[in-house]
Amino acid sequence: MKIKAGFITKFLLIICLILSFHSSTFALQGKDNAGYDRKVKTFSTEVSPTVSISNVAATGKPCITWEKLKGANRYKVYCAKSKKGNYKRLITTSASSFVHKKAVAGKTYYYKVQAVSKRSPKKLSKMSAPRKNICDLRSPVCSVNLNKRGKPKVTWKAVANAKKYEIYCATKENGSYKKIAMVKGTSYTHKEASYDKDYYYKVRATNPEFKGAASAKSSVCSIYTMDLRKKRIALTFDDGPGPYTQRIVDCLKEHNGRATFYLLGMNVEVYPDVVKAMKQAGNEIGNHSYDHPNLRLQTTDIILSQMWKTDKAIEAVIGETTSTMRPPYGKFNSTVQAIVGKPVILWSMTTLDWYHQDKDLTVKYVMSNVSDGDVILMHDIHESTMEAVIELVPKLQCEGYELVTVSELAKYRGINLEKGKVYYGFKK
Ligand code: NI
Repeated sequence: MKIKAGFITKFLLIICLILSFHSSTFALQGKDNAGYDRKVKTFSTEVSPTVSISNVAATGKPCITWEKLKGANRYKVYCAKSKKGNYKRLITTSASSFVHKKAVAGKTYYYKVQAVSKRSPKKLSKMSAPRKNICDLRSPVCSVNLNKRGKPKVTWKAVANAKKYEIYCATKENGSYKKIAMVKGTSYTHKEASYDKDYYYKVRATNPEFKGAASAKSSVCSIYTMDLRKKRIALTFDDGPGPYTQRIVDCLKEHNGRATFYLLGMNVEVYPDVVKAMKQAGNEIGNHSYDHPNLRLQTTDIILSQMWKTDKAIEAVIGETTSTMRPPYGKFNSTVQAIVGKPVILWSMTTLDWYHQDKDLTVKYVMSNVSDGDVILMHDIHESTMEAVIELVPKLQCEGYELVTVSELAKYRGINLEKGKVYYGFKK
């Protein structure tokens, strides 16, 4: 029992000592983060400056900061490559911080700071305890492209002293970035990425040999993925909507396909519900003028009013205007190009469906001539065309064609559609 009591007394004594030590160090601190005034340390040979270190975000170089001592006027910053190594003076300064620009990325350094008294310059404070810091690596600059299959390939330049790179990924620019890989080289292919999605990447350089040295994450690079091995075509229907258009819209929807409808403003006013349905099913709606004049023979005012009236009619139904146009008869000139304010979309295949109005001829012609990237011209105002579409949609899909809109097809080919520019198709 005696031994136990003695042990408890000793234990309590040690606790008291620790507590008193803590309170005295607090009293020596200056302003803390919350802004409370604490007693500022006064210069003496027995105190040392309080040192903290952080790395500069842009360069990764260590920034040593310390609290000034009352009565001190200059500070000496010392550095060594190991804790008990040979500390060499880096600088003598009157400031309260110093950026160690000559520090090498990925390496570990130890720093000490010593204050010099105002009154007697030779009088030195106690040296601060050594503070360890690893100089950060430079952050990589990344870019991303699609590989042949349409998967994202992230690349970057090698960072000095980096041994490995961490790749972070998110599906929204400001989303949460998750670490998806760690590689030795300077590129990474994200094979698990799915198609038709946006991906955002950041890369971080690291060096495990330098005990956790790492760069800040790079700025974002992003890409939209798509299966580049897929065959895609754009079916386009002019002059509608008409009495057969809804059936075409239903057929596309049934087979999970999409098309582009170049509408006449005057017909939009007759079939508003069909226009709504085609938009809701994900089809694209384009401008084909109000009542089908040859725009090449019209004045600027008439061309503009043909475009404007049609856009207004479409907007009244679906709440938005069109982003591409097709001139009636495919006729245009430089004036038309200059003032329509939209990409001019023609076609790479015409079926002449309006001329022969023969379902079998249309089907046969398309199936024997179609190729990847085609923009196919048809007219949804004919019954024979509607019948042809009902046959064509599953047939084309069986041949491996994905039915997309004109704007999607351009996007899949990496083409930014430009106002006034004429496009005949998007073949590779
Ligand atoms: Ni037409």
